[in-house]
Amino acid sequence: MALLDWKPELELGVAAMDREHRELVAAMNRIHELDQKKAGRATVDAALQQLIKLTKAHFADEEKHMAAIGFPGLAVHARIHADMLRKVAAHYETFRAGSGAVAKEFFDFLVLWLGAHIMGIDRKYAPLPTAARR
Ligand SMILES: [Fe+2]
Ligand SMILES: [Fe+2]
Repeated sequence: MALLDWKPELELGVAAMDREHRELVAAMNRIHELDQKKAGRATVDAALQQLIKLTKAHFADEEKHMAAIGFPGLAVHARIHADMLRKVAAHYETFRAGSGAVAKEFFDFLVLWLGAHIMGIDRKYAPLPTAARR
């Protein structure tokens, strides 16, 4: 079972950002799957590093996109991204120091930032209304 299924509410109507968001959701689901089937520490570690790499690249791309469209909320949004990267790094350190299993708190955090962040925070720069209002 996927940790987070892609749903219409996650679609922003900005092709490049939607594509990256889908990649992030897929990377997160992959970590969950590897963890569930106990794929081994090195495999899970590599998948986590990949997610962090994708996340950093996505945040940079998203900040560039917001700058390009003159989005006024860029500074606040960039601070939220920086805070999330700090939190992801902290969760990753906890994983590295642990037994090789990914903590439930880490998955909860990923679902929250991917779900709530895209639907609540990223949505603000998007041209599409929420799916509920469509
Ligand atoms: Fe964002
Ligand atoms: Fe985003």
